[in-house]
Amino acid sequence: MADTIRRVTANPGGETVIAVTSGALRQPFSNEAVVRVRAFSMNRGELGRARNAETADMQIGWDFAGVIETAAADGSGPQAGTRVVGFSTRMEAWAELVSIPTTHIAPIPDTVSDAQAATLPVAGLTALHSVDAATALIGRKALITGATGGVGMFATQLALIGGAETVAQVRRADQVAFVEALGNCTPVVSEDGAGLGDPGAYRLVVDGVSGPILESGIKALAPDGICVCYGITAAPEINIEVRPFMFSGQAKVMGFYLYSQAEVTPPSDNLPRLLSLVASGRLNCGIEREASWDESGRIAQDLLDRKFSGKAVLHVR
Ligand SMILES: NC(=O)c1ccc[n+]([C@@H]2O[C@H](COP(=O)([O-])OP(=O)(O)OC[C@H]3O[C@@H](n4cnc5c(N)ncnc54)[C@H](OP(=O)(O)O)[C@@H]3O)[C@@H](O)[C@H]2O)c1
Repeated sequence: MADTIRRVTANPGGETVIAVTSGALRQPFSNEAVVRVRAFSMNRGELGRARNAETADMQIGWDFAGVIETAAADGSGPQAGTRVVGFSTRMEAWAELVSIPTTHIAPIPDTVSDAQAATLPVAGLTALHSVDAATALIGRKALITGATGGVGMFATQLALIGGAETVAQVRRADQVAFVEALGNCTPVVSEDGAGLGDPGAYRLVVDGVSGPILESGIKALAPDGICVCYGITAAPEINIEVRPFMFSGQAKVMGFYLYSQAEVTPPSDNLPRLLSLVASGRLNCGIEREASWDESGRIAQDLLDRKFSGKAVLHVR
């Protein structure tokens, strides 16, 4: 097996936030398979970490799809030659080869492409766990904020699949068509949280934006509603009037962090749920950009500058 591989690293002081460089492959632990990566998708989170990196040897990349080159030595997980999708919590995924715990990969059905599968780990699992936080969604309302984002567009579709009447918040009128293409949701254009719903409206709020939009979502929770906070894209702090929240009865606000969740329920448990929805044509992966990984730097900048909605997939050739 190759000792030196090409991989994506942070690029402090460079023209682009990340770059393709050469370095050593981390040798696998006994519970890890080695996967030859074919495609990966980008998330705002890891690009943010790359932007804040101080050294250029920091590898970047959570999501990948590829083929098992060497199965795990302990006998766990799929065999060599199996196509798999996975989540590298060590951020080593955007590379020719990645060593990965078998609890963090799942086999890809034949009808799902590498590109589709690669969109699922971070954005899809975050959306899935957020929607799973609420039971009894059928006939109730859900609010998904930041519905043009990677997590938001999966959460919008999963809330619809879960039976909720789903309101999808976007910032601009020209983004309405993007969320309407996700399914039978109700788009609401709001930058400041106005118009997002009356008090008592929502059984579920899934928020990755924070700021005034989250404040409005919490105010609009049903007495038994739950608000899942997974991101702070707009603002790190909010103001909440406690009295009406208290009198709401049993409304809850919960934090969500995929790293902690992955300790409780490994990605290998839940990736198959998303893959089966993609295979049956019920989940659209929202791929808006596809390119060779040689263009990673430019595409990463476009994602950080919000020049497109949905997901970007890079092919490792
Ligand atoms: N806790 C976890 O485990 C976890 C997991 C995944 C993601 N995250 C975090 O969740 C957030 C979203 O992730 P993502 O991958 O979905 O990101 P993304 O694809 O970049 O989407 C960001 C979303 O936020 C909106 N947005 C951006 N800036 C905004 C602003 N100033 N005010 C209002 N809305 C704004 C975008 O709308 P436009 O299209 O209009 O720009 C878009 O809908 C990130 O902060 C990420 O780090 C956390």
